[in-house]
Amino acid sequence: MASAWLLFSLFLFFIIFSAAKEFQSPHFSCLHEIHERERSSASVQETAVHGLLMRLLPSHASSFQFRIISKEECNGKLCFIIRNHPSAKQDASPEILIEGVTGVEISAGLHWYLKYFCSAHISWEKTGGVQLDTVPKPGSLPLVPHDGIFVQRPVQWSYYQNAVTSSYSFAWWDWERWEKEIDWMAFQGINLPLAFTGQEAIWQKVFQRFNFSTSDLDDFFGGPAFLAWSRMNNLHGWGGPLPQTWLNNQLVLQKKILARMYDFGMTPVLPAFSGNVPAAIKSRFPNARVTQLGNWFSVNSNTRWCCTYLLEPTDPLFVDIGKSFIEQQIKEYGRSSHIYNCDTFDENTPPSDNPQYISSLGAAIYEGMQSGDSAAVWLMQGWLFSYDPFWQPPQMKALLHSVPIGRMVVLDLYAEVKPIWTTSNHFYGVPYIWKVPIIPLFFV
Ligand SMILES: *[C@@H]1O[C@H](CO)[C@@H](O)[C@H](O)[C@H]1NC(C)=O
Repeated sequence: MASAWLLFSLFLFFIIFSAAKEFQSPHFSCLHEIHERERSSASVQETAVHGLLMRLLPSHASSFQFRIISKEECNGKLCFIIRNHPSAKQDASPEILIEGVTGVEISAGLHWYLKYFCSAHISWEKTGGVQLDTVPKPGSLPLVPHDGIFVQRPVQWSYYQNAVTSSYSFAWWDWERWEKEIDWMAFQGINLPLAFTGQEAIWQKVFQRFNFSTSDLDDFFGGPAFLAWSRMNNLHGWGGPLPQTWLNNQLVLQKKILARMYDFGMTPVLPAFSGNVPAAIKSRFPNARVTQLGNWFSVNSNTRWCCTYLLEPTDPLFVDIGKSFIEQQIKEYGRSSHIYNCDTFDENTPPSDNPQYISSLGAAIYEGMQSGDSAAVWLMQGWLFSYDPFWQPPQMKALLHSVPIGRMVVLDLYAEVKPIWTTSNHFYGVPYIWKVPIIPLFFV
């Protein structure tokens, strides 16, 4: 049974989520205001969409005009509007005008137009790739109905990825491949993508400040294809160590990824501290309170690679490290979108089923985030609840209610097969995102 679940979780590598409904909480309205205020300028977002058009269909570079509009022009929501350009039919002038509240909305509008008016197909390579032969030449693009096409986003956020996608797919990607993926995200209307690349370079700086050595960290980080599990307290050291050049280059890559996501008006989700610490904590901080976790499917059952260390929430180092990690990211990237992913028990059983322990752990995770970023919201994968029968209502409730309502969002990660929202009274009131997984692309 366990191995069947493992297989499933191994194959589950591309995941898209969509929000079930508008989140109603004063903190979310505040967060939306911050996002609106901090979003890239209209001209940056319009330029980002123009760049996407140039990469996709350079022959039609002047056939479209893109314009950012206000939420009010969309009846208070996010939307795109496709219109015939007022100057259409004059030579070499734009034919189609696409307006949207963000660059993502405009890109989704461009995709809509190409798909429904020009019969084009825009997808991943394994699901048909980009097929644009049916798009008419500039000057003869199909007109849209006189009143235009108005499409309102039914949900505020469309999330993309699983924490393990980094290792299944992204470990081998260069900027060219990432650029293509971010274009794909924009076309699909994804506005809440995970942005996990390069985090080991940040961890390195943080842990060095806490006096951990390079060899302490060599035994902590996994190799590129296994980072997902060394990040989530499942394995350590396997496939490593990571060369410094790799760490540095991933950080450079992450900066490009984030910059492009922000240019489109997306909200990239950064990582946060889960309590996962190098084994050397015992020698560096002999008084630190730590627990060793159990064996998560270690390679050949060899305990050399498993049984990572979890800092106890009562240890003051917990919040110190959590805060430093957020601060180091903000320092390095110059900004944050205030939404942080963190999964302590993705496929690990907690050391205690005492709801008080679980609650204090959640509270320490959030306190670390919030001490580094006062507007922080914790985005948590709900996979643990489907995976491990450990999570009974008192334990679930303890974790979900360890932070104030409105400061956590849960991803109902397997919702189309085993929805948790139905059996947990809607995650006991914690806002959640319903999702659809796209599973084994490598079988195609
Ligand atoms: C790291 O070591 C230095 C020198 O021993 C010490 O002064 C400093 O407090 C240590 N840092 C932490 C975070 O413990």
